[in-house]
Amino acid sequence: MTGYIIGTGAYAPSLAIDNHEIEKLVETSDEWIRERTGVVRRHIVGTETTVSMAIEAGRRAVEDAGIAPEEIDLILVSTISPNAILPCVACRVQEALGAVNAACYDLSAACTGFILAYSTVLAYMAGGMIKTALIVASDSLSNLTNWEDRGTCILFGDGAGAAVVRAGDGPFYLPVTHADGSLGDSLTCRSRQDHHQVFGGSLAETYDDASYYIEMDGKAIFQFAVRKVPEVIRETLQKNNVRQEEIDWFVLHQANGRIIESVAKRLGEPLEKFPMNVQEYGNTSSSSIPLLLDEMKKKGMLQPGQKLMLAGFGAGLLWGAAILEWK
Ligand code: COA
Repeated sequence: MTGYIIGTGAYAPSLAIDNHEIEKLVETSDEWIRERTGVVRRHIVGTETTVSMAIEAGRRAVEDAGIAPEEIDLILVSTISPNAILPCVACRVQEALGAVNAACYDLSAACTGFILAYSTVLAYMAGGMIKTALIVASDSLSNLTNWEDRGTCILFGDGAGAAVVRAGDGPFYLPVTHADGSLGDSLTCRSRQDHHQVFGGSLAETYDDASYYIEMDGKAIFQFAVRKVPEVIRETLQKNNVRQEEIDWFVLHQANGRIIESVAKRLGEPLEKFPMNVQEYGNTSSSSIPLLLDEMKKKGMLQPGQKLMLAGFGAGLLWGAAILEWK
C-alpha cells in the first residue's frame, strides 16, 4: 500500500514584490538578498487570505485529479496563519469544494507541515481508514512579518499548494520525522495567548504588537538545516532500503537557495536534481513543497515511476523526509 499524488494545485497572490521594493523598507540590497537567499521576488496577499488561497489551490488539485469532491475522505490543511482560530481552514475548504464526506482538520507544523501531513495521510491509509485525501498548505506569512526587520522580511512570501493523495498498490515508504523542542526559541512567532492571561496576568503591561511577528536566529536555523536535512534524507533512504542514486528529484522546502545548494553538496548530488522556485516565491512555509510539485508537474518534469525525496524543516524545530513514487 502506498499514497500516490494523483493531482496537484497551487495559488500565488497576483501581487509580486521584488527585492527593489524591499530596499525601500529596510537597509538592504537586491544583490545581498539574491546572494544570501536566492530570493528575487515574493507574492503577497492583497485581497486574498489564507482561506481563499487554500480553497483555490484545493479546487485546482481536485480538478487536476479528475475526482468528484464527494470522494475525498479527509482534508488536512497545514497552516500557521489561519484567518481565524475557529473554524479550521480545512472546514472552509470542505464547504467551498462541496467535499461533504471529508473529515477535516488543520495541522500546525510550520515549514515541515507538508511532510507531516503526508505522513498522517499515509498512516490513515495504511490503517484502512481512508482512500482519498486532500492535503492543502496555505500561509500568508506577510501578516506575521515585521517589515522593519531585515533579517526576516527579505525571506518570506505568501501562497498555497495542494495535493490529492490516493491509496494504491505499491511499495510503502516509511516517512521519517523528527523534532527538537529545545531549539524552539530560534524561530518563533508569539500569539496573543502569551499575553492575555485571564487569571493572574496583566493585559496592559505586556501588550506589545511587535511580539506577534516572526523572530529568528538566522544563523542557527541555517546551520540546523544544512546539518539535519542531509541526515534525515540518508536516514529515510536507509529505513526504506532505497539507494540514493534511485532518487530522481530532491524536492526540498524552499527556504533559501544557499541551504538547498549546501544540502546538494553534502549529499554529493548535482544541483540539477534539486528543483527550485524560491527565487519567485520566497519561503512560503509548508506551501513551498506542493507549490513546487505543481510547477514540476505542469512543466512535465514528473514521469511515472520516478522516485521523489521530499524534505522539510523549520520552526519547532521540526524536520523530516518522505519518499514518494510518482504515478
Ligand atoms: N541586507 C543587508 N545586510 C544584512 C541583511 C540584509 N537583509 N541582513 C543582515 N545583514 C547584515 C548583518 O547585519 C551582518 O552585518 P555585520 O557583519 O556588519 O554585523 C551581515 O549582514 C551578516 O549577517 P548574518 O546574519 O550573519 O547573515 P547571514 O549570512 O547568516 O544571512 C540570513 C542571514 C537570514 C539570510 C541567513 O542566516 C539565512 O538564510 N538563515 C536561514 C533562515 C531560514 O531559512 N529560515 C527559515 C527556515 S524554515
